[in-house]
Amino acid sequence: MLIAPSMLCADFANLKRDADALQEAGADWLHWDCMDGHFVPNLTHGPIVLKALRPYSPLVFNAHLMISHPLQYLDDFLEAGADTLTAHIEASDDAREFLEAVREAGKLPGLAVNPGTPAEQIEPLLPLCDVITVMGVEPGFAGQSFKAGTVEKTAEVRNLAEAAGRHVHIQVDGGVSTENLPALLAAGADVVVSGSWLFHHPRGFAAAIRELRALEK
Ligand code: DX5
Ligand code: ZN
Repeated sequence: MLIAPSMLCADFANLKRDADALQEAGADWLHWDCMDGHFVPNLTHGPIVLKALRPYSPLVFNAHLMISHPLQYLDDFLEAGADTLTAHIEASDDAREFLEAVREAGKLPGLAVNPGTPAEQIEPLLPLCDVITVMGVEPGFAGQSFKAGTVEKTAEVRNLAEAAGRHVHIQVDGGVSTENLPALLAAGADVVVSGSWLFHHPRGFAAAIRELRALEK
């Protein structure tokens, strides 16, 4: 299991401090929630933040692009040092074009699906993906409740990937905690994003990550 803390919950006045502490605590990826205020009703940050942190963190930078036009900003995110780049299948730009461009750049292309989007919609694009992100919440904010049906959807994505003979990372993003993690792992998730649960853990990042890892079989 790869653990990807959502940096949306980090202290933006001390991002390097938090990134260092997360690396120390055993995180695998840093999950950057980039929102344009158009695709989702929230405005966070663009590639400039990834670029600022890039020289200081060896962790995988997982850019979650909750933006309408991921193609328009792709070069900026690549230049900033993103390692995996996930666009939403619901975004305006052509998903196939995005996925091909990310692969062309030698990075890991990903596709995210919102709770209301059927898993089948990713089927034709699966061969182009290295990461599929199953949203456990409506995108836009951290701290929301985990949506029913997310575990079943994770299993559907796993079955589609297996049927396609494709080894993809299945990432679950939104509302993840020790409550739902065992079921998500059993359903085939191998990358978990955690924002509120991890950042608000009473005993800090290392204890939180230890607790998550203890749930792996
Ligand atoms: C929501 C983001 C998630 C979220 C995770 O739009 O994509 O990454 O910040 O935070 P929690 O774990 O609190 O839902
Ligand atoms: Zn996210």
